[in-house]
Amino acid sequence: MEKFIIDGGEKLYGSVEIQSAKNAVLPLLAASVLTDEQVIIRAIPRISDVENMLRILCELGCEIAREGDAAIIDSKNAVSHEIPAVLTKEIRSSIFMLGSILTRFHRAKISYPGGCDIGLRPIDLHLSGLKKLGVEIVEENGYIECSAEKLSGAEVVLDFPSVGATENIILAAVKARGRTVIRNAAKEPEIVDLQNFLNAMGAKVYGAGSANVVIDGVERLHGVEYVPMGDRIEAGTFLIAAAACGGEIETQGVLEENIAALLHKLRENGCKIYAKNDKIVLQSDGRLKSVPIFETSPFPGFPTDMQAQYSALSCVARGTTLVIENLFETRFKYAGELKRMGADILVHGKTAIIRGVERLHGASVTACDLRGGAALVVAGLVADGQTAVLDLSHIDRGYGDFESKLRLLGAKIRRVKI
Ligand code: UD1
Repeated sequence: MEKFIIDGGEKLYGSVEIQSAKNAVLPLLAASVLTDEQVIIRAIPRISDVENMLRILCELGCEIAREGDAAIIDSKNAVSHEIPAVLTKEIRSSIFMLGSILTRFHRAKISYPGGCDIGLRPIDLHLSGLKKLGVEIVEENGYIECSAEKLSGAEVVLDFPSVGATENIILAAVKARGRTVIRNAAKEPEIVDLQNFLNAMGAKVYGAGSANVVIDGVERLHGVEYVPMGDRIEAGTFLIAAAACGGEIETQGVLEENIAALLHKLRENGCKIYAKNDKIVLQSDGRLKSVPIFETSPFPGFPTDMQAQYSALSCVARGTTLVIENLFETRFKYAGELKRMGADILVHGKTAIIRGVERLHGASVTACDLRGGAALVVAGLVADGQTAVLDLSHIDRGYGDFESKLRLLGAKIRRVKI
Protein backbone atom coordinates (compact mmCIF):
# COMPACT_ATOMS: atom_id res chain seq x y z
CA MET A 1 0.00 0.00 0.00
CA GLU A 2 1.15 3.51 -0.78
CA LYS A 3 0.01 7.02 0.02
CA PHE A 4 0.74 10.56 -1.07
CA ILE A 5 2.08 13.03 1.43
CA ILE A 6 1.35 16.57 0.32
CA ASP A 7 2.61 19.76 1.92
CA GLY A 8 0.07 22.26 0.63
CA GLY A 9 0.24 25.93 -0.16
CA GLU A 10 2.72 26.04 -3.04
CA LYS A 11 1.86 27.94 -6.19
CA LEU A 12 2.33 25.97 -9.41
CA TYR A 13 4.54 27.12 -12.28
CA GLY A 14 5.83 25.46 -15.43
CA SER A 15 4.89 23.31 -18.34
CA VAL A 16 3.44 19.80 -18.23
CA GLU A 17 3.28 17.23 -21.01
CA ILE A 18 -0.06 15.51 -21.08
CA GLN A 19 -0.28 11.73 -21.47
CA SER A 20 -2.32 9.95 -24.14
CA ALA A 21 -5.97 9.76 -23.18
CA LYS A 22 -6.89 6.75 -21.06
CA ASN A 23 -10.36 6.76 -22.57
CA ALA A 24 -8.94 6.78 -26.09
CA VAL A 25 -6.25 4.15 -25.57
CA LEU A 26 -8.55 1.56 -23.96
CA PRO A 27 -10.91 1.25 -26.96
CA LEU A 28 -7.92 1.35 -29.35
CA LEU A 29 -6.43 -1.62 -27.51
CA ALA A 30 -9.78 -3.40 -27.76
CA ALA A 31 -9.79 -2.65 -31.50
CA SER A 32 -6.34 -4.12 -32.00
CA VAL A 33 -7.76 -7.67 -32.23
CA LEU A 34 -9.72 -6.70 -35.35
CA THR A 35 -6.69 -7.48 -37.51
CA ASP A 36 -4.12 -10.26 -37.42
CA GLU A 37 -1.46 -7.83 -38.56
CA GLN A 38 0.72 -5.88 -36.14
CA VAL A 39 -0.76 -2.89 -34.33
CA ILE A 40 1.62 -0.33 -32.82
CA ILE A 41 0.22 2.18 -30.36
CA ARG A 42 2.72 4.85 -29.39
CA ALA A 43 2.84 7.02 -26.25
CA ILE A 44 1.05 4.45 -24.12
CA PRO A 45 0.23 6.08 -20.75
CA ARG A 46 1.77 4.50 -17.64
CA ILE A 47 -1.50 3.73 -15.88
CA SER A 48 -2.91 0.53 -14.45
CA ASP A 49 -6.11 0.53 -16.54
CA VAL A 50 -3.94 0.18 -19.64
CA GLU A 51 -1.80 -2.55 -18.05
CA ASN A 52 -4.96 -4.48 -17.19
CA MET A 53 -6.29 -4.10 -20.72
CA LEU A 54 -2.99 -5.45 -22.06
CA ARG A 55 -3.38 -8.41 -19.66
CA ILE A 56 -6.82 -9.07 -21.14
CA LEU A 57 -5.30 -9.10 -24.64
CA CYS A 58 -2.66 -11.58 -23.42
CA GLU A 59 -5.43 -13.81 -22.04
CA LEU A 60 -7.00 -13.86 -25.50
CA GLY A 61 -3.70 -15.12 -26.90
CA CYS A 62 -2.26 -11.87 -28.28
CA GLU A 63 1.46 -11.30 -28.11
CA ILE A 64 2.40 -7.95 -26.62
CA ALA A 65 5.83 -6.34 -26.89
CA ARG A 66 6.88 -3.03 -25.36
CA GLU A 67 9.36 -0.78 -27.13
CA GLY A 68 10.01 2.47 -25.32
CA ASP A 69 6.59 3.98 -24.75
CA ALA A 70 4.97 1.94 -27.55
CA ALA A 71 2.91 -1.24 -27.24
CA ILE A 72 3.12 -3.64 -30.17
CA ILE A 73 0.15 -5.99 -30.35
CA ASP A 74 0.19 -9.06 -32.50
CA SER A 75 -3.11 -10.91 -32.35
CA LYS A 76 -2.61 -13.39 -35.19
CA ASN A 77 -2.48 -16.28 -32.70
CA ALA A 78 -5.38 -15.04 -30.57
CA VAL A 79 -7.64 -17.98 -29.81
CA SER A 80 -9.82 -17.18 -26.86
CA HIS A 81 -13.19 -15.45 -26.99
CA GLU A 82 -13.52 -15.45 -23.22
CA ILE A 83 -12.34 -12.83 -20.72
CA PRO A 84 -11.76 -14.21 -17.23
CA ALA A 85 -13.94 -12.69 -14.52
CA VAL A 86 -10.96 -11.59 -12.43
CA LEU A 87 -9.89 -9.20 -15.21
CA THR A 88 -13.32 -7.77 -16.07
CA LYS A 89 -13.75 -6.93 -12.40
CA GLU A 90 -10.58 -4.85 -12.52
CA ILE A 91 -11.49 -2.82 -15.53
CA ARG A 92 -14.86 -1.86 -16.87
CA SER A 93 -13.68 -1.04 -20.37
CA SER A 94 -13.25 -4.78 -20.91
CA ILE A 95 -16.87 -4.39 -22.02
CA PHE A 96 -15.54 -2.82 -25.27
CA MET A 97 -13.91 -6.13 -25.95
CA LEU A 98 -17.39 -7.55 -26.53
CA GLY A 99 -17.75 -5.76 -29.89
CA SER A 100 -14.25 -6.52 -31.11
CA ILE A 101 -14.16 -10.15 -29.90
CA LEU A 102 -17.49 -10.72 -31.66
CA THR A 103 -16.11 -9.28 -34.87
CA ARG A 104 -13.05 -11.48 -34.57
CA PHE A 105 -14.48 -14.79 -33.26
CA HIS A 106 -18.25 -14.45 -33.79
CA ARG A 107 -18.77 -15.31 -30.16
CA ALA A 108 -17.74 -13.78 -26.85
CA LYS A 109 -18.03 -14.62 -23.18
CA ILE A 110 -17.45 -11.98 -20.57
CA SER A 111 -18.47 -11.52 -16.94
CA TYR A 112 -20.31 -8.40 -15.84
CA PRO A 113 -17.84 -5.51 -15.89
CA GLY A 114 -16.26 -3.73 -12.92
CA GLY A 115 -14.33 -0.42 -12.89
CA CYS A 116 -14.87 2.75 -10.92
CA ASP A 117 -17.39 2.37 -8.15
CA ILE A 118 -19.35 5.46 -9.15
CA GLY A 119 -22.82 4.10 -9.70
CA LEU A 120 -24.81 1.33 -11.29
CA ARG A 121 -23.22 1.60 -14.74
CA PRO A 122 -25.69 -0.57 -16.64
CA ILE A 123 -24.83 -2.02 -20.05
CA ASP A 124 -28.32 -2.38 -21.51
CA LEU A 125 -27.54 0.09 -24.34
CA HIS A 126 -24.48 -1.94 -25.36
CA LEU A 127 -26.48 -5.15 -25.42
CA SER A 128 -29.54 -3.82 -27.23
CA GLY A 129 -27.29 -2.22 -29.88
CA LEU A 130 -25.43 -5.48 -30.43
CA LYS A 131 -28.72 -7.35 -30.72
CA LYS A 132 -29.70 -5.01 -33.57
CA LEU A 133 -26.58 -6.19 -35.44
CA GLY A 134 -27.74 -9.80 -35.11
CA VAL A 135 -26.00 -10.84 -31.90
CA GLU A 136 -27.74 -13.40 -29.71
CA ILE A 137 -27.17 -12.77 -26.05
CA VAL A 138 -27.64 -15.08 -23.08
CA GLU A 139 -27.06 -13.70 -19.59
CA GLU A 140 -26.39 -16.43 -17.02
CA ASN A 141 -24.57 -16.73 -13.68
CA GLY A 142 -23.00 -13.28 -13.96
CA TYR A 143 -21.73 -14.00 -17.48
CA ILE A 144 -22.82 -12.57 -20.81
CA GLU A 145 -22.50 -15.04 -23.67
CA CYS A 146 -22.87 -13.66 -27.18
CA SER A 147 -22.88 -15.33 -30.53
CA ALA A 148 -23.29 -14.01 -34.05
CA GLU A 149 -22.58 -16.20 -37.04
CA LYS A 150 -23.11 -13.16 -39.23
CA LEU A 151 -22.98 -9.58 -38.04
CA SER A 152 -25.23 -7.40 -40.20
CA GLY A 153 -25.42 -3.63 -40.42
CA ALA A 154 -28.50 -2.01 -38.88
CA GLU A 155 -29.86 1.26 -37.57
CA VAL A 156 -29.25 1.62 -33.84
CA VAL A 157 -30.95 4.44 -31.96
CA LEU A 158 -29.43 4.97 -28.52
CA ASP A 159 -31.80 6.12 -25.76
CA PHE A 160 -28.85 8.00 -24.26
CA PRO A 161 -25.54 9.00 -25.92
CA SER A 162 -23.42 6.44 -24.07
CA VAL A 163 -19.70 6.63 -24.87
CA GLY A 164 -19.04 2.94 -24.29
CA ALA A 165 -22.13 1.75 -26.18
CA THR A 166 -21.26 3.97 -29.17
CA GLU A 167 -17.71 2.58 -29.24
CA ASN A 168 -18.81 -1.01 -28.76
CA ILE A 169 -21.32 -0.84 -31.58
CA ILE A 170 -18.71 0.72 -33.88
CA LEU A 171 -16.33 -2.15 -33.04
CA ALA A 172 -19.01 -4.73 -33.79
CA ALA A 173 -20.01 -2.99 -37.04
CA VAL A 174 -16.65 -2.37 -38.76
CA LYS A 175 -16.65 -5.76 -40.49
CA ALA A 176 -20.39 -6.42 -40.45
CA ARG A 177 -22.26 -6.93 -43.72
CA GLY A 178 -23.64 -3.60 -44.96
CA ARG A 179 -24.15 -0.26 -43.29
CA THR A 180 -24.72 0.52 -39.62
CA VAL A 181 -26.04 3.89 -38.52
CA ILE A 182 -25.85 4.91 -34.85
CA ARG A 183 -28.26 7.70 -33.98
CA ASN A 184 -27.98 9.79 -30.81
CA ALA A 185 -24.36 8.63 -30.65
CA ALA A 186 -22.02 10.06 -28.01
CA LYS A 187 -19.90 12.94 -29.40
CA GLU A 188 -16.83 12.63 -27.16
CA PRO A 189 -13.48 13.37 -28.87
CA GLU A 190 -12.25 9.88 -27.93
CA ILE A 191 -14.82 8.46 -30.37
CA VAL A 192 -13.27 10.57 -33.12
CA ASP A 193 -9.90 9.10 -32.16
CA LEU A 194 -11.32 5.58 -32.44
CA GLN A 195 -12.75 6.45 -35.86
CA ASN A 196 -9.36 7.78 -37.03
CA PHE A 197 -7.60 4.67 -35.75
CA LEU A 198 -10.06 2.28 -37.42
CA ASN A 199 -10.00 4.19 -40.70
CA ALA A 200 -6.18 4.02 -40.64
CA MET A 201 -6.70 0.22 -40.50
CA GLY A 202 -8.92 0.35 -43.59
CA ALA A 203 -12.35 0.71 -41.94
CA LYS A 204 -15.08 3.02 -43.22
CA VAL A 205 -16.41 4.98 -40.27
CA TYR A 206 -17.86 8.48 -40.71
CA GLY A 207 -19.48 11.12 -38.56
CA ALA A 208 -17.80 10.48 -35.18
CA GLY A 209 -18.01 13.64 -33.09
CA SER A 210 -21.60 14.17 -34.29
CA ALA A 211 -24.82 12.49 -33.17
CA ASN A 212 -24.91 10.21 -36.24
CA VAL A 213 -22.11 7.74 -36.84
CA VAL A 214 -22.13 5.67 -40.04
CA ILE A 215 -20.12 2.48 -40.42
CA ASP A 216 -19.83 0.67 -43.75
CA GLY A 217 -18.59 -2.86 -43.10
CA VAL A 218 -15.34 -3.86 -44.83
CA GLU A 219 -13.91 -7.34 -45.57
CA ARG A 220 -10.65 -6.93 -43.72
CA LEU A 221 -8.60 -4.54 -41.61
CA HIS A 222 -4.83 -4.22 -41.69
CA GLY A 223 -2.10 -3.25 -39.22
CA VAL A 224 -1.56 0.32 -38.08
CA GLU A 225 0.85 2.56 -36.19
CA TYR A 226 -0.92 5.24 -34.21
CA VAL A 227 -0.38 8.02 -31.68
CA PRO A 228 -3.52 8.52 -29.55
CA MET A 229 -4.96 11.92 -28.66
CA GLY A 230 -4.03 13.72 -25.43
CA ASP A 231 -5.89 13.18 -22.17
CA ARG A 232 -8.29 16.09 -21.68
CA ILE A 233 -9.16 14.94 -18.16
CA GLU A 234 -5.52 14.83 -17.07
CA ALA A 235 -4.95 18.30 -18.59
CA GLY A 236 -8.09 19.59 -16.88
CA THR A 237 -6.91 18.22 -13.53
CA PHE A 238 -3.59 20.12 -13.76
CA LEU A 239 -5.34 23.31 -14.86
CA ILE A 240 -7.78 23.05 -11.94
CA ALA A 241 -4.89 22.47 -9.52
CA ALA A 242 -3.05 25.56 -10.79
CA ALA A 243 -6.24 27.64 -10.70
CA ALA A 244 -6.84 26.66 -7.06
CA CYS A 245 -3.22 27.02 -5.88
CA GLY A 246 -2.38 30.08 -7.98
CA GLY A 247 0.54 30.37 -10.37
CA GLU A 248 0.95 29.94 -14.11
CA ILE A 249 1.12 26.63 -15.95
CA GLU A 250 1.02 25.41 -19.51
CA THR A 251 -0.37 22.05 -20.62
CA GLN A 252 0.95 20.51 -23.82
CA GLY A 253 -0.95 18.00 -25.91
CA VAL A 254 -4.64 18.83 -25.53
CA LEU A 255 -6.74 21.03 -27.79
CA GLU A 256 -8.72 23.89 -26.25
CA GLU A 257 -11.89 22.72 -28.02
CA ASN A 258 -11.74 19.42 -26.15
CA ILE A 259 -11.99 21.06 -22.73
CA ALA A 260 -13.87 24.21 -23.65
CA ALA A 261 -16.59 23.67 -21.01
CA LEU A 262 -14.02 23.55 -18.20
CA LEU A 263 -12.02 26.52 -19.54
CA HIS A 264 -15.24 28.55 -19.69
CA LYS A 265 -15.85 27.86 -15.97
CA LEU A 266 -12.23 28.59 -14.99
CA ARG A 267 -12.48 31.97 -16.75
CA GLU A 268 -15.65 32.66 -14.75
CA ASN A 269 -13.62 31.85 -11.63
CA GLY A 270 -11.27 34.67 -12.58
CA CYS A 271 -8.42 32.78 -14.27
CA LYS A 272 -6.73 34.06 -17.40
CA ILE A 273 -6.43 31.42 -20.08
CA TYR A 274 -4.66 31.52 -23.45
CA ALA A 275 -4.66 28.64 -25.90
CA LYS A 276 -2.76 28.03 -29.11
CA ASN A 277 -2.61 24.78 -31.05
CA ASP A 278 -2.27 22.07 -28.42
CA LYS A 279 -1.01 24.35 -25.65
CA ILE A 280 -3.14 25.90 -22.94
CA VAL A 281 -1.74 28.49 -20.53
CA LEU A 282 -3.56 29.32 -17.29
CA GLN A 283 -2.74 32.17 -14.91
CA SER A 284 -4.36 32.43 -11.50
CA ASP A 285 -3.75 34.57 -8.44
CA GLY A 286 -5.36 31.82 -6.35
CA ARG A 287 -8.22 34.08 -5.24
CA LEU A 288 -11.14 32.62 -7.13
CA LYS A 289 -14.77 33.62 -7.19
CA SER A 290 -17.17 30.71 -7.34
CA VAL A 291 -19.47 29.93 -10.26
CA PRO A 292 -23.10 29.79 -9.08
CA ILE A 293 -23.84 26.43 -10.75
CA PHE A 294 -22.31 23.72 -12.89
CA GLU A 295 -23.77 20.48 -14.08
CA THR A 296 -22.28 17.50 -15.85
CA SER A 297 -23.53 16.35 -19.21
CA PRO A 298 -22.28 14.45 -22.26
CA PHE A 299 -19.70 16.18 -24.49
CA PRO A 300 -19.49 19.07 -25.27
CA GLY A 301 -20.98 19.71 -21.79
CA PHE A 302 -19.03 19.75 -18.54
CA PRO A 303 -17.47 16.26 -18.17
CA THR A 304 -18.48 14.09 -15.24
CA ASP A 305 -14.82 13.02 -15.07
CA MET A 306 -13.89 16.57 -14.04
CA GLN A 307 -16.74 17.10 -11.56
CA ALA A 308 -14.84 15.98 -8.45
CA GLN A 309 -11.68 17.98 -9.16
CA TYR A 310 -13.67 21.11 -10.04
CA SER A 311 -15.76 20.68 -6.89
CA ALA A 312 -12.52 20.61 -4.87
CA LEU A 313 -11.62 23.96 -6.43
CA SER A 314 -15.10 25.30 -5.65
CA CYS A 315 -14.49 24.49 -1.97
CA VAL A 316 -11.94 27.34 -1.79
CA ALA A 317 -13.66 29.82 -4.13
CA ARG A 318 -15.50 32.86 -2.77
CA GLY A 319 -19.26 32.17 -2.79
CA THR A 320 -21.62 29.22 -3.19
CA THR A 321 -21.72 26.66 -6.00
CA LEU A 322 -24.53 24.27 -6.85
CA VAL A 323 -23.24 21.07 -8.45
CA ILE A 324 -25.52 18.76 -10.41
CA GLU A 325 -24.16 15.33 -11.37
CA ASN A 326 -26.30 13.97 -14.18
CA LEU A 327 -24.26 10.96 -15.28
CA PHE A 328 -23.41 8.72 -12.34
CA GLU A 329 -25.32 8.26 -9.08
CA THR A 330 -22.56 7.95 -6.52
CA ARG A 331 -19.99 10.44 -7.71
CA PHE A 332 -19.86 12.50 -4.52
CA LYS A 333 -18.10 9.98 -2.33
CA TYR A 334 -15.08 12.26 -2.07
CA ALA A 335 -17.25 14.93 -0.36
CA GLY A 336 -17.02 13.25 3.05
CA GLU A 337 -13.22 13.22 2.74
CA LEU A 338 -13.08 16.90 1.72
CA LYS A 339 -15.18 17.76 4.78
CA ARG A 340 -12.42 16.28 6.91
CA MET A 341 -10.22 18.99 5.42
CA GLY A 342 -12.65 21.74 6.39
CA ALA A 343 -14.78 21.91 3.23
CA ASP A 344 -18.42 22.94 3.51
CA ILE A 345 -20.34 20.56 1.22
CA LEU A 346 -23.90 19.36 1.49
CA VAL A 347 -24.78 16.42 -0.75
CA HIS A 348 -28.31 15.45 -1.57
CA GLY A 349 -28.84 12.79 -4.25
CA LYS A 350 -27.34 14.01 -7.49
CA THR A 351 -26.72 17.55 -6.23
CA ALA A 352 -24.23 19.17 -3.89
CA ILE A 353 -24.09 22.65 -2.43
CA ILE A 354 -20.56 23.90 -1.83
CA ARG A 355 -19.98 27.01 0.25
CA GLY A 356 -16.47 28.25 -0.35
CA VAL A 357 -14.25 28.50 2.75
CA GLU A 358 -11.22 30.72 3.28
CA ARG A 359 -8.79 27.80 3.83
CA LEU A 360 -8.76 23.99 3.82
CA HIS A 361 -6.49 22.24 6.30
CA GLY A 362 -4.43 19.08 5.88
CA ALA A 363 -5.91 15.74 7.00
CA SER A 364 -5.62 12.03 6.30
CA VAL A 365 -8.10 11.17 3.53
CA THR A 366 -8.82 8.12 1.39
CA ALA A 367 -9.41 7.99 -2.36
CA CYS A 368 -12.65 6.14 -3.17
CA ASP A 369 -12.47 6.27 -6.96
CA LEU A 370 -10.22 7.62 -9.71
CA ARG A 371 -11.43 11.21 -10.16
CA GLY A 372 -12.50 11.56 -6.53
CA GLY A 373 -8.91 10.63 -5.65
CA ALA A 374 -7.58 13.35 -7.95
CA ALA A 375 -9.91 15.83 -6.22
CA LEU A 376 -8.33 14.98 -2.86
CA VAL A 377 -4.88 15.66 -4.34
CA VAL A 378 -6.08 19.06 -5.62
CA ALA A 379 -7.45 19.81 -2.15
CA GLY A 380 -4.19 18.69 -0.52
CA LEU A 381 -2.16 20.97 -2.80
CA VAL A 382 -4.20 24.00 -1.80
CA ALA A 383 -4.67 23.18 1.91
CA ASP A 384 -2.67 24.54 4.84
CA GLY A 385 -0.36 21.95 6.36
CA GLN A 386 0.11 18.30 5.48
CA THR A 387 -2.38 15.99 3.77
CA ALA A 388 -2.08 12.21 3.38
CA VAL A 389 -4.04 10.67 0.50
CA LEU A 390 -4.50 6.92 0.95
CA ASP A 391 -5.40 4.15 -1.49
CA LEU A 392 -3.51 5.33 -4.53
CA SER A 393 -4.58 2.32 -6.60
CA HIS A 394 -7.60 4.33 -7.72
CA ILE A 395 -5.50 7.31 -8.82
CA ASP A 396 -2.94 5.06 -10.53
CA ARG A 397 -5.70 3.74 -12.82
CA GLY A 398 -5.73 7.01 -14.74
CA TYR A 399 -2.82 9.33 -13.89
CA GLY A 400 0.68 8.25 -14.98
CA ASP A 401 3.60 9.78 -13.04
CA PHE A 402 1.10 12.08 -11.33
CA GLU A 403 3.33 13.11 -8.44
CA SER A 404 6.46 13.58 -10.62
CA LYS A 405 4.53 15.87 -12.96
CA LEU A 406 3.14 17.86 -10.02
CA ARG A 407 6.60 18.10 -8.46
CA LEU A 408 7.95 19.55 -11.73
CA LEU A 409 5.33 22.28 -11.34
CA GLY A 410 6.61 23.02 -7.84
CA ALA A 411 4.19 21.00 -5.72
CA LYS A 412 5.44 19.32 -2.56
CA ILE A 413 4.09 15.81 -3.00
CA ARG A 414 5.71 12.43 -2.49
CA ARG A 415 4.66 8.81 -2.58
CA VAL A 416 5.50 6.74 0.45
CA LYS A 417 4.99 3.09 1.30
CA ILE A 418 2.71 2.40 4.25
C1 UD1 B 1 -17.07 6.63 -20.38
C2 UD1 B 1 -15.72 6.93 -19.80
C3 UD1 B 1 -15.86 7.49 -18.39
C4 UD1 B 1 -16.80 8.69 -18.39
C5 UD1 B 1 -18.11 8.36 -19.10
C6 UD1 B 1 -19.03 9.56 -19.29
C7 UD1 B 1 -14.26 5.30 -20.85
C8 UD1 B 1 -13.37 4.12 -20.67
N1 UD1 B 1 -14.92 5.72 -19.77
O1 UD1 B 1 -17.66 5.64 -19.56
O2 UD1 B 1 -14.57 7.87 -17.93
O3 UD1 B 1 -17.09 9.03 -17.05
O4 UD1 B 1 -17.84 7.82 -20.41
O5 UD1 B 1 -18.38 10.54 -20.00
O6 UD1 B 1 -14.32 5.89 -21.91
N2 UD1 B 1 -25.73 4.02 -19.47
C9 UD1 B 1 -26.86 3.24 -19.48
N3 UD1 B 1 -26.83 2.05 -20.15
C10 UD1 B 1 -25.72 1.64 -20.84
C11 UD1 B 1 -24.57 2.46 -20.84
C12 UD1 B 1 -24.61 3.65 -20.13
O7 UD1 B 1 -27.88 3.58 -18.88
O8 UD1 B 1 -25.77 0.56 -21.45
C13 UD1 B 1 -25.75 5.31 -18.73
C14 UD1 B 1 -24.77 5.31 -17.56
O9 UD1 B 1 -25.34 4.78 -16.40
C15 UD1 B 1 -24.47 6.78 -17.42
C16 UD1 B 1 -24.54 7.30 -18.85
O10 UD1 B 1 -25.27 6.32 -19.59
O11 UD1 B 1 -25.46 7.42 -16.67
C17 UD1 B 1 -23.20 7.56 -19.49
O12 UD1 B 1 -22.44 6.42 -19.48
P1 UD1 B 1 -21.40 6.10 -20.63
O13 UD1 B 1 -21.30 7.24 -21.56
O14 UD1 B 1 -21.77 4.77 -21.21
O15 UD1 B 1 -20.07 5.96 -19.83
P2 UD1 B 1 -18.94 4.87 -20.04
O16 UD1 B 1 -18.80 4.56 -21.49
O17 UD1 B 1 -19.15 3.78 -19.09
